[in-house]
Amino acid sequence: MRVDPRANGPQRLRLAAVAALAAVWSLAGCAPTGDPGGTRSEPEPRRTWASLHHEAPTPPDAIDEDPRDGVFALTLVAAQGPAGGPRYTYNGTSPGPTIRARLGDAVVVTVRNELDDPTTVHWHGLHVPVEMDGVPGTVAPIPPGGTFEYRFVVTQAGTFWYHPHFDTEGQVDGGLYGAFVVEDPRDPVPDHDVVLVFDADEEHTDSTAHPAHGHGRIDGRWRVNGRVLPTLAFAGGARIRVRALNASNAGYVALRWPDMRHIGSDQGLLPRLEQPERVVLGPGDRADFEWLIGETGFVATTDSFSLNGGDAAWESEDLFSVAVEAPAPRPSGLDWPFDGATPSGDPGYADVVWVLQGSDRTNLWFINGERFPDVTVPEIPLGQPRVIEVRNLSPTRHPFHIHGMNFEVLSVDGAPPPYRMVEDTIDLGIRETVRLLVRPPNPGEWMAHCHILPHAEDGMMTMLHVSAH
Ligand code: C2O
Ligand code: CU
Repeated sequence: MRVDPRANGPQRLRLAAVAALAAVWSLAGCAPTGDPGGTRSEPEPRRTWASLHHEAPTPPDAIDEDPRDGVFALTLVAAQGPAGGPRYTYNGTSPGPTIRARLGDAVVVTVRNELDDPTTVHWHGLHVPVEMDGVPGTVAPIPPGGTFEYRFVVTQAGTFWYHPHFDTEGQVDGGLYGAFVVEDPRDPVPDHDVVLVFDADEEHTDSTAHPAHGHGRIDGRWRVNGRVLPTLAFAGGARIRVRALNASNAGYVALRWPDMRHIGSDQGLLPRLEQPERVVLGPGDRADFEWLIGETGFVATTDSFSLNGGDAAWESEDLFSVAVEAPAPRPSGLDWPFDGATPSGDPGYADVVWVLQGSDRTNLWFINGERFPDVTVPEIPLGQPRVIEVRNLSPTRHPFHIHGMNFEVLSVDGAPPPYRMVEDTIDLGIRETVRLLVRPPNPGEWMAHCHILPHAEDGMMTMLHVSAH
């Protein structure tokens, strides 16, 4: 997630379109719509009543296969997708099923690999033992036809996700990912808890090869939960918790809708309610929001947003719409247990410094002048506070992710963030420096990399050793 208090570009709310949609909806009765395919240039044809009822607006929830309290068990099958559908699926869908565990649950996921290539599953943002982290080199990948049982206890509440860490660029781009929600019993229960996964096909960061869509732009339309421009319909008066995830390889969303209520980030609730104009999510990033449904719906958009800086290269785009089935007065917000925490003081030194460099021209990306796997691995101790400084000296942004530990953002270019920010992925602006406070909860060798997957694949990955004492 990125703090972006200065963002105040034009709001593009297409209220007429919303009114038209709402009219269609009241006729249709309910139900989601949206296109599984479609091209970028043409508006999507309106779906017929019959087709509306076969499409779900959100990924299915995973079914807990273990009836015992405190255990969440699931079989996840990675396979080729259907003809004309996503390239790969988990349990037949992309996004795969949403895992909804409770804080403290023992999670057991049996992954069966029906792909033609090896695969693994990485639990992005969750603290798991290193041999459960899905990184080849620590544990052998699951061969085609093989099975692996991932076991860990969930100790953090929030919105996380899962995806392969073998041929990550190819497999994630092909559709292998899903949301992983960990519920905190202290949080208020909304009327609906909704996952929004953003992705697109065939993404590129190479501006020379794709002049029209370069600069981290996606080809084709953004998809939301696998669909172009879906509609989610709710009854007036409903209070919704929204969990947004950018599962794209290289594309940024700069989310906008009216009266944005931002309540959570990578690692659970924010310290307080934030009401920004927009929230930028780089690849790998998450944000939670609250929607208070009243009399009218809205269309959510993404601003144009370039990883090479600047906003002006293309038009903003509609992402999805929210329709109201039975208008009612807008409810008040839920009573979220915000903790009001303020940022920790910066001790001023750095234990680890990572300098990011590289160029779109060469497609060579470096950390401290090295490219994975030929990297120097610094060591920090288990459970102790340590400071990692990441400096971006390259001409593009990088959403930087560290495995195995969350971190508090101490400063961005020397300034402390406006509230205590705990993250596992932080979007570094061009020439920006961030300072991160970690306290590693598990020993082992952990990856750290840019989550623009072509950058990671082309070298921008390194490792960090957490010693057991
Ligand atoms: Cu979601 Cu190594 O990453
Ligand atoms: Cu990058």
